[in-house]
Amino acid sequence: MINTLTIRTVINVYDHANELPADEQELLVKAKAACASAYAPYSGFHVGAAILLDDGTIVTGSNQENLAYPSGLCAERTAIYYTGANYAGRIIKKIAVAAYKPAAAQFMPANPCGACRQAMVEYENKQEQQIKIILAGENDKIYVADSIEALLPLQFKAKHLGIVNSPQ
Ligand code: THU
Repeated sequence: MINTLTIRTVINVYDHANELPADEQELLVKAKAACASAYAPYSGFHVGAAILLDDGTIVTGSNQENLAYPSGLCAERTAIYYTGANYAGRIIKKIAVAAYKPAAAQFMPANPCGACRQAMVEYENKQEQQIKIILAGENDKIYVADSIEALLPLQFKAKHLGIVNSPQ
């Protein structure tokens, strides 16, 4: 007998950034601005991430590539690891992500890769508070999920590893 597990994820889609709350609009502007600091000579794809902390601080990051390709790092992980390293006690409230292609002179849709989802969900679980994620999509559309978990169902959990005193 086969049982079916249906996983439901809620993503709110906005037609324009101006329909978002003011803090999320600002975060998206910061994510777009962060694309300018990308070091992406190999892909030509510039990604920016902006993180809003509970005290209002905004931390940004961009993708940093390397000639030895796997040594590079995505914008989301650059930003979230920087946050973990420099704002250890703070709660991460929201993350915005945008991408820009200089060759096309336009912003592009970019969804976080699996490794970045895994990295972000670690902090969500650690702080026991959801992190809202705001993704710049196609034609000015914005995709918003209330948590990273929404983008990473059936995630690998500490319980699978049998860790008892896990930070999660
Ligand atoms: N990249 C990011 O920084 N974030 C994403 O969400 C997707 C991909 C980067 C990695 C690489 O430097 C370039 O975009 C092309 O994959």
